Amino acid sequence: MIIFKNTADIHLHLLSKKKDLITTGFVPTMGALHSGHIALVNKARSEAEIVISSIFVNPTQFNDPKDFAKYPSTIENDIYLLEKSGCDILFLPTVAAIYPYGFKSTKHYELGNLETILEGQYRPGHFQGVCQVVHRLLEIIVPSILYLGQKDFQQCKVLAKMIGILGIDTSISVCKTQREPDGLAMSSRNLRLNETERKLAPGIYKALLSLQKEISAGDITTLTSRAKQQLAHDGFKVDYIEFAIADSLEIIQSWDGQTPLVALAAAYLNEIRLIDNILINDLPFKGLAPGK
Ligand code: PAJ
Repeated sequence: MIIFKNTADIHLHLLSKKKDLITTGFVPTMGALHSGHIALVNKARSEAEIVISSIFVNPTQFNDPKDFAKYPSTIENDIYLLEKSGCDILFLPTVAAIYPYGFKSTKHYELGNLETILEGQYRPGHFQGVCQVVHRLLEIIVPSILYLGQKDFQQCKVLAKMIGILGIDTSISVCKTQREPDGLAMSSRNLRLNETERKLAPGIYKALLSLQKEISAGDITTLTSRAKQQLAHDGFKVDYIEFAIADSLEIIQSWDGQTPLVALAAAYLNEIRLIDNILINDLPFKGLAPGK
């Protein structure tokens, strides 16, 4: 695996491959890698000729400075895992390489209601920061395919929208959420859970599973209120647990029994914020592949 730190070096290296019509697959991450990230690398390995990953803890997407300060870093193990899974190139940029003109971006991404609902409501500015960094990374790497995890469902929608708006010639491939044996969605933040919190953490997925099992056509607000109460009773501070239309992410209170939905949740266990989601009729991702 080649490790690049310099923006111009990796850009020129990959540009020459692109000229030869080689398919490049890109997996951006913030490090502290786990099997969820590696599943993305494996998918990229099976679909692209060159697999590139990046590790960059992006300051502009953290609305909570404490969360940024405490974000785990396991760089040696990350390099080992990437190498073992057949990643060809790792991009390890500095803050100055990503933000040569500082953090204040003159760009504003028109994300519409995607920016104000769910994660957007509870993490103001977060998705602008995500767009800022991924846009910059796409300009540097110029990948054929961008690999994203369903775990961050709204992020997938936001980045699909950004790529569409900017007319970037990169398609998106979404990888299913990877879970621990007890159902907890793998996440770098899980490293920060203490023993008691770790035992409680799968409660979010259990709540989502019961929504999936119990939903039927008609009013669905009783279900979400009950799930919220259950989570609160189990020690979570709930930001949201909602049903939304899988395609548009519009939050709904009543269901026609047919439209594909996603149930999404975000909740704290003490200081640690966990998110998860589940597709209701388990349809594959649609509408996420602008470009090719
Ligand atoms: P990070 O949280 O490191 O996640 C990197 C990628 O791995 C994202 O696409 C995320 O959805 C995916 N991922 C995380 N946990 C997963 C799991 N359990 N199963 C499947 N995929 C999983 O998401 C980010 O970083 C950043 O916002 C980033 C896109 C890198 C921009 O800074």
